Amino acid sequence: MATSSLPIFPKILGNESAEVCVIGAGIAGLTTAYLLARLGISVIVLDDGPILSGETERTTAHLTYALDDRYFELERLHGEKGARLAAESHSAAIDAIEEIITTENILCDFERLDGYLFTPPGESPQILERELIAAHRAGLSAVERVSRVPIPSFDTGPALRFPRQAQFHPLKYLAALAQAFLKYKGRIYTETHVTAVEGGEPARIETQGGHIVSAGAVVVATNTPVNDRMLIHTKQAAYRTYVIGATIPRGSIPKGLYWDTPDPYHYVRLQSSEQSDLLIIGGEDHKTGQADDGQARYLRLEEWARARFPMIESIAYRWSGQVMEPVDGLAFIGRNPLDKKNVYIVTGDSGNGMTHGTIAGILISDLIAGRENAWAELYDPARKTLGAVKDFAQENLNVAAQYVEKITAGRGQDPAAILPGTGTVFRHGLRKDALCRDEDGRLYEFSAVCPHLGCIVAWNTMEQTWDCPCHGSRFDKDGTVLNGPAISNLAH
Ligand SMILES: Cc1cc2nc3c(=O)[nH]c(=O)nc-3n(C[C@H](O)[C@H](O)[C@H](O)COP(=O)(O)OP(=O)(O)OC[C@H]3O[C@@H](n4cnc5c(N)ncnc54)[C@H](O)[C@@H]3O)c2cc1C
Ligand code: FES
Repeated sequence: MATSSLPIFPKILGNESAEVCVIGAGIAGLTTAYLLARLGISVIVLDDGPILSGETERTTAHLTYALDDRYFELERLHGEKGARLAAESHSAAIDAIEEIITTENILCDFERLDGYLFTPPGESPQILERELIAAHRAGLSAVERVSRVPIPSFDTGPALRFPRQAQFHPLKYLAALAQAFLKYKGRIYTETHVTAVEGGEPARIETQGGHIVSAGAVVVATNTPVNDRMLIHTKQAAYRTYVIGATIPRGSIPKGLYWDTPDPYHYVRLQSSEQSDLLIIGGEDHKTGQADDGQARYLRLEEWARARFPMIESIAYRWSGQVMEPVDGLAFIGRNPLDKKNVYIVTGDSGNGMTHGTIAGILISDLIAGRENAWAELYDPARKTLGAVKDFAQENLNVAAQYVEKITAGRGQDPAAILPGTGTVFRHGLRKDALCRDEDGRLYEFSAVCPHLGCIVAWNTMEQTWDCPCHGSRFDKDGTVLNGPAISNLAH
């Protein structure tokens, strides 16, 4: 479904107040807002784009409890109880989506299907044995070993089958959820950029137009928090991931969710239309702002796909998006650490943002309504996961290395040499400038210093954006901030 067919909401035009203000109208924000409104709580949602214009628009929408990190790894990081709660909460999230679809009568192509995890050629299937045992210990007793994935065109060898996964059309689902939210007297304002968030009684949310929303609590669901300068951004890293959509003859591959085990891994599923099936294949992830070879990554994805699915007719779609990878495998959902008690965040939702976003809706609405929730400790943004110390150190050393760029020389020499569709960072004495030229030949010039914490942005040719290699802020070629944690534009 094209974004143009999504419902349109007004800009905020004056000061407002509500019991809860949710910032961000992606799956996390809209689910939280809807579940709160269903409890009779008055809620305002603010978003600086149209609704669903963030990463939710780019998702491949596998609804799964077979998470990005293996259950044996989650058990090492969070203990047996933690792995069990992770399995329980992601299964419950899929059930919650199904319940909402039934309650609100939503037509969004939701269907239950199996998921399959397999190893690439040459890799020992031992990892699957470990995973099977850990999944059973986590309470997923229906997970089973099968001799191969049921795709006729390639023999994966042994695989694990995860029953009762699901898929749906995320934009159809969430557009209907937004409408249902209105029915519970919710208010949505779009094209409304939030410039400041302050907890307290009441919480105070300031918008670019100078309007103030006062609220009893605020939920920052901006994918990566725009209100938290530092702490949470040391515990997660932004990665770019790539997707192709290939047409195949109808019925040539059974419906299912398919994943292999390397890091980064490939993720595959099917979307049917009346004429043909679309095979959606993703992977080739890299740290945001640390590679500019998107074209090569699309080609590698296509090569990987054609080798396994010879029935591919043509590549109809290509797109990429950003995922926030937490150092310990699970999202950060709950009270914002070191902040006032009525400020909540949801972030670090990895490639499982559909379920993590739904868990956020359930958990945050429970916290705000003062109800017990057994998942609160597991997802607490203030948690310290001892087993993740190595990953934490590696990610932060990587960030530190990006600051070296700040003092090394700029790469470009002559602005006239910047071709349409390209960008480069120039050094002018101590200053670093980001220069790019659009396809019509117009030159844009900004400071290359990211307004979040001062890293130097890098050009992304495929997206025509400036991406920050430190914590994933992204800016349009005209300097407008597209992704947090930066809350303001590149400086002129
Ligand atoms: C290519 C790709 C494939 C994926 N595949 C899967 C998958 O198969 N299964 C799965 O579970 N997950 C998947 N994910 C992850 C999942 O899509 C995301 O984690 C999820 O959509 C994030 O939702 P969100 O609501 O947190 O953020 P978003 O959808 O990004 O919403 C955040 C919103 O906040 C708004 N915003 C930001 N800053 C401000 C501000 N200052 N003021 C006002 N508004 C602001 C933005 O405009 C945006 O609308 C995938 C992600 C990508 C990129
Ligand atoms: S995103 Fe943190 S410095 Fe750019």
